[in-house]
Amino acid sequence: MTNFKNLSLLLASASFALASPRPLIQRHVVTVTETVSGPAETPAWDTGAVVDYPIHESCNSTEVHMLKRGISEMIKLAEHARDHILRFGNSSEIYTKYFGSAATAEPIGWFEKVVRGDRGDMLFRCDNPDGNCALEGWGGHWRGSNATSETVICPLSYSTRHSLESLCALGYTIAGYETNFYFASDLLHRVYHVPQIGEEIVEHYAGEYLEVLELAKTNPEEAVRNSDTLQYFALEAYAFDIAVPGVGCVGEAPEPTEGDHDHGHAATSTVPDAPSMTSAAPAECHTHSDGVVHCT
Ligand SMILES: *[C@@H]1O[C@H](CO)[C@@H](O)[C@H](O)[C@H]1NC(C)=O
Ligand SMILES: *[C@@H]1O[C@H](CO)[C@@H](O)[C@H](O)[C@H]1NC(C)=O
Ligand SMILES: *[C@@H]1O[C@H](CO)[C@@H](O)[C@H](O)[C@H]1NC(C)=O
Repeated sequence: MTNFKNLSLLLASASFALASPRPLIQRHVVTVTETVSGPAETPAWDTGAVVDYPIHESCNSTEVHMLKRGISEMIKLAEHARDHILRFGNSSEIYTKYFGSAATAEPIGWFEKVVRGDRGDMLFRCDNPDGNCALEGWGGHWRGSNATSETVICPLSYSTRHSLESLCALGYTIAGYETNFYFASDLLHRVYHVPQIGEEIVEHYAGEYLEVLELAKTNPEEAVRNSDTLQYFALEAYAFDIAVPGVGCVGEAPEPTEGDHDHGHAATSTVPDAPSMTSAAPAECHTHSDGVVHCT
């Protein structure tokens, strides 16, 4: 240490003597000597961090623009969900409606991972490597065992998913519509399939609105790691706090009727047009009659 200090002084004074005495140059030389005495070989602790969600070169420029906007809305949605819980904890009625008596730290963590987790082991792509985009109503899919870190976003998403700015407009209600009405919540569902974000713990334990409310009462421990619960909660917190403050747009759930697959179906229900991939991959995807795809 003493040697370095001496060297620094020596270099500084030498430069002062040799170079032009303008303060600018003198300062520059002193900076160099500090580097010599510092631990130059130690990389920053977070070297290699991936901050932005990676988008594959198969996405055309329009898709990149729209995907980036959707991703930033997803982050905004997750960020507010986290902040709502941090502010109100389980004193929030919206919290207990979706998470029951569960402790708050787990959902905070799942939202925070979407907001600030590393994205180095995941990829959004726009080509159609598994052919699923040809299936009617498919807006995208997690690649499952074909590539666990990859998510395909099909062309349909770009023409059907709505902006978070239109939350509570366009006739949308939380209870009455699918969560993939908005690109933000649709993407939230998709990133939870990726092991780096969902850790293979956020899964589909319950699907639609009424099932999700039931799960909060019967199994809060599962509710906090249920993909659809996290989406519904985030949408309702954003709707009530930000989109239409103090009002939101819960609406009413349609009456569950016998044979109505869209609503109130059991989580285990199957669908006749389920693609053949169900046997080849751990992901079981089924398409609802209104075009909503659920992959577990
Ligand atoms: C809220 O959390 C506290 C602990 O912080 C707990 O004592 C209480 O029972 C919880 N209330 C509900 C409704 O879960
Ligand atoms: C880019 O992708 C969008 C959405 O998939 C598509 O509608 C558009 O035609 C594509 N643009 C070009 C130039 O291929
Ligand atoms: C994985 O790839 C195979 C062969 O291309 C395909 O049949 C299957 O549907 C793919 N799985 C998923 C989850 O897309």
